[in-house]
Parts: sequence; structure tokens; C-alpha cells
Amino acid sequence: MTDIIKKIITEHDINDNELKLLIENADSDSELFSEADRVRRQIYGDKVYLRGLIEFTNYCRNNCFYCGIRRDNKNARRYRLSKDEILNCCKEGYALGYRTFVLQGGEDPYFTDDRLCSIVSEIHNLYPDCAVTLSLGERTKESYQKLFEAGAERYLLRHETADAVHYAKLHPDSMSCENRKRCLYDLKSIGYQVGTGFMTGSPFQTTENLIADIRFMQELSPDMIGIGPYITHKDTPFSSFPSGSLELTLRLIAIIRLLFPYALIPATTALGTISHTGREKGLKAGANVIMPNLSPAAVRKKYELYDDKICTGEESAQCRACLERRVSSAGYRIVTDRGDRAGI
Ligand code: 5AD
Ligand code: FES
Repeated sequence: MTDIIKKIITEHDINDNELKLLIENADSDSELFSEADRVRRQIYGDKVYLRGLIEFTNYCRNNCFYCGIRRDNKNARRYRLSKDEILNCCKEGYALGYRTFVLQGGEDPYFTDDRLCSIVSEIHNLYPDCAVTLSLGERTKESYQKLFEAGAERYLLRHETADAVHYAKLHPDSMSCENRKRCLYDLKSIGYQVGTGFMTGSPFQTTENLIADIRFMQELSPDMIGIGPYITHKDTPFSSFPSGSLELTLRLIAIIRLLFPYALIPATTALGTISHTGREKGLKAGANVIMPNLSPAAVRKKYELYDDKICTGEESAQCRACLERRVSSAGYRIVTDRGDRAGI
């Protein structure tokens, strides 16, 4: 075993120079992936948790330079699901075995605290054995608190990049790295299980940025860490930047599994989009969660954060069957429970 990998296993940390070597070199990949898989199996066995993703609005007041549903993208066909449509997704998902629902959307002012709390509490009452997860972007601490009291237990908010200078290259002036981090600490202090993360290969990203991402997460100590490749979207200011790579994403998944043994790490849809077997490879490199789409097939294509997103032509039941095959072909097993982080 290379010394650096041995050191992470025994000391659960390495210094910046060692991290840089691991991030920048492909030489130790196969060893890195097999050690990451060994650690995930020690803690989670061969289990893969499913999160049913309901993309309920693609209206967004923000204008992130990389994102296909940014406010200024006039080509985006906007939609909002009604409360009944959202509840129908949960019903269908529950029948397919999902025990976590993730309500994800752009930052849509239509969804006030009152509207959201009513949706969250209804799901919570109808499906008390399920975890309600929110992914709605930046809100006030008071808003996060109300949603928590309505029954939401988990919140996903990628920090995107922990470096303020890099953050400013990916976002307009109206957004800040500082506020993003404030939101994450607020969510933690309220008692949410928190997920954060970033894109690999985003424009202007350096190895130093990736090291800063890891250091920030070591401080935050999130329950879930979502990383996927940046993928070009044709109608954004970043349309001429190339997508991130499968290799770098897998390497980071493995490094993160070794540094955060207990974390829930999704094999993301973006990973499955840049490579047909990207999600299976992600699982083999240490990921243990998949987040299939439960949105109605009619709107799926419209939640286009990046070009050529997979699974937009499928029904929920088709995705469920497809994943069963994919996960078992990779040597793992889908389980249908809430999938809380180990060690809680
Ligand atoms: N490529 C890959 N991921 C993207 N996201 C947004 N736009 C893109 C893109 N072009 C990610 C962001 C966001 C999450 C919901 O999707 O990291 O937090
Ligand atoms: Fe959606 Fe395979 S997971 S079709």
C-alpha cells in the first residue's frame, strides 16, 4: 500500500502536500478505490440507500453561471408541481420502497415558508416512517427552523466551493461563499442532518480549491457529501467550458470515503451522465447512496441543470428496476430503509 493511503487509513488525515499528490496522480487509483470500498463495506456492508428525488420547481431567483435553471436562461421551460402532484410522487415512491423523499428545487419565492411547511407536514404525517429531506437553497435561519419543526430532518446544500475567490468566479455578486457557509452552520445548529458538496472540474477549479473543500468539510462534519462532475449546459455563461472528468470525480469520492468513513456519499446522476456506468463505478469507489428521480416523467426534461441529464425519459418504476440491475451488477444491494448515517 502506498504510504499516503496507509496514513489516511491509520490517522484519518493527511497534510495538504499529501492530499495534492493523491488528487493529482492516477497511479494510486486502483488501490485508493479498493481501500475506499473496504472501508465502506466495514461500515455499511454492501448496502446502497435510495433517496427519491422530487424536483418540484425549476423557477430560480439566482443566476449561478454554471446552472441550466438560472434566472436568465430564457430557454428554460419553467414549471412548479402542485402539492397534490408532490404527494402523488411520494405515494408512487412509497409503493416502490422509497423511505426518504428529497424535495429539491430552485430558489423559488412562490414557495413561502407557509406553503412549504404545509407540504412537509403532510408528507411527514402520511409517511411517518420516511425521512423528509429538503434541498431548496439559501434561506434564513428562521425559515430553516420552521421547516424543521414541520418535520424536515435533513437538508442538502452543496457549498459548491469553499474558496471565496473561486466562489465569486462561479456566482454573481448577489451570492457569497460566506452566506452559503452561514446557511450550513445554521442548518447544523438547528439539528438537521446536513449534506454538502461540490462539483469536480468546475471552471477555474484548482487542486488547492479541492483541498480547501475537504478542509471545510472536515470542519463542518456533514452527514452526506455529494460530489459530481461539472457538466456544461449550453444556455449558460459557462457554455464553452469543458465538463469535469469521471476519473477525478471517482478519485475524490474515494479520498472522501477514507477521510469521512461514516459519510453518506451519493453516486450522482451527473456521474451517470458523463459515463454510462459512472454510478456503478462511483459505488465501487466508495459511494453508498443513489438518488433516483421520482418527478413526473412530463417535467423531468425541464429540470435540466446540465446538458443530456440521464433518466429524463423514464418513469419512476423503470428507474427503480434499472437501478436494481445496476447496483447488483456492481456487487451491492439496494435496501429500502431511511438510511440514516451510521454512528448516529
Ligand atoms: N453540472 C453539474 N452539476 C451542477 N449543479 C448545478 N449545475 C450543474 C452543472 N452544470 C449541481 C450544483 C447544485 C446541485 C443541485 O446541482 O452543485 O448544488
Ligand atoms: Fe433511471 Fe436507470 S436509473 S433509467
